[in-house]
Amino acid sequence: MLDHQDVLSALNGKLPLPAKLEYLHAFLKLRYGFIDRIAIALYDAKTDLLKTFVQHSTGENRLVIYSAKLSGSISLQEIVKTGRPRVVNDLDIYAHVEAEHARQIAAMKYESSYTLPIFMNGEFVGFLFFNSRRKNVFEERVLHYLDMLGHLVALLVIHEMALNRSLYAIVKTAANITLHRDVETGAHLDRMSNYARLIAKEVAGKFQLNDELVEHIFLFAPLHDIGKIGIPDSILLKPEKLTGEEFAIMQTHAAKGGEIINMMLSNLGEADYPHAAVLRNIALYHHEALDGSGYYGLKDKDIPFEAKIVSVADVFDALTSARSYKQAWSNDAAFAFLQSMAGIRFDADCVAALARCRAQVEEIQQRFGENRLG
Ligand code: C2E
Ligand code: SIN
Ligand code: SIN
Ligand code: FE
Ligand code: FE
Repeated sequence: MLDHQDVLSALNGKLPLPAKLEYLHAFLKLRYGFIDRIAIALYDAKTDLLKTFVQHSTGENRLVIYSAKLSGSISLQEIVKTGRPRVVNDLDIYAHVEAEHARQIAAMKYESSYTLPIFMNGEFVGFLFFNSRRKNVFEERVLHYLDMLGHLVALLVIHEMALNRSLYAIVKTAANITLHRDVETGAHLDRMSNYARLIAKEVAGKFQLNDELVEHIFLFAPLHDIGKIGIPDSILLKPEKLTGEEFAIMQTHAAKGGEIINMMLSNLGEADYPHAAVLRNIALYHHEALDGSGYYGLKDKDIPFEAKIVSVADVFDALTSARSYKQAWSNDAAFAFLQSMAGIRFDADCVAALARCRAQVEEIQQRFGENRLG
């Protein structure tokens, strides 16, 4: 009984989701020791990608970040279509199928799985996976129990997603109401946030990022310039180069962004929301340079990793997009510019990461292209 109480009180607290999942996994293992992994994968309908979000596993607990297209797995699509969970008591039957996701799971030596779909207001948002390194463990009585626990985990995920989405929606709405002007086009935001995710995944080892952080960087990257809503149109929309004085005003958009986010979080009663720091750092520090020549003059080690990542993503897209005051650069020219500033202004690993992903960059440009109205 004590164990029950411990787990429930942990779930009530302001712990981040990975810690809650770890508690639940420990709790579950007291009863069913053969469950070696609990994982949540989220689905992004825009890109058809299924991405690990949070996971906890015993044994070799390595950082595994993967994503795969849902359309590549017939069996997972079936779960979504029917809305019903699926038991696989011998994952060997998937050893030879094409599904990337299944192959990655098999590579981690899991032998059986129980998979539940997660829906939020009727919309499919992801999967919950229970995996075991043993075969044939998911029998009726276990499934009955996992269904209950699974719903609890799903609620935790939905709560967290709803909070993230509210934050995002509130900031966007505020921008639209105050503005009636499109500061940054939707396509720019889609591209740069996808670039940010590519980079984040590549540098996850260096910066010790887990999947959840990668996902939050992706989600919050589009809010980097939210402070521009406080910049007068005469400057923001000026079709020529800014004067020194105008540029100084323009540069206040970083600090204004931080203020807006703080205000919004306190209005929401979520000032200590665990991911607030990522959001705030992106808005405040996306114009820092490693050598201290950026807006706040922070140096390399003092610049938060999320800001380093977003900076490279933002500048790459700013360069390759047309603006009212400049033409679009070619990808070659933009990569060459980033490279010339690697280690000086931009984090060299972030630059190298984006350059390595050139094929995906081009795919993103194609998917989220626009008629150069930037
Ligand atoms: P933005 O257009 O989103 O650009 C973001 C960052 O991308 C810029 O930050 C800069 O680091 C880089 N960038 C964009 N275009 C170029 C370019 O042609 N050459 C180079 N070398 N870098 C470029 P930065 O400079 O701090 O500017 C912040 C924001 O100020 C810009 O956001 C834009 O909204 C505005 N801005 C900057 N320069 C001008 C300008 O000459 N005219 C106008 N109207 N706005 C400007
Ligand atoms: C799959 O069927 O795609 C993989 C099974 C699992 O992730 O548990
Ligand atoms: C860009 O503006 O980043 C390039 C996208 C395109 O070519 O449509
Ligand atoms: Fe900015
Ligand atoms: Fe931008």
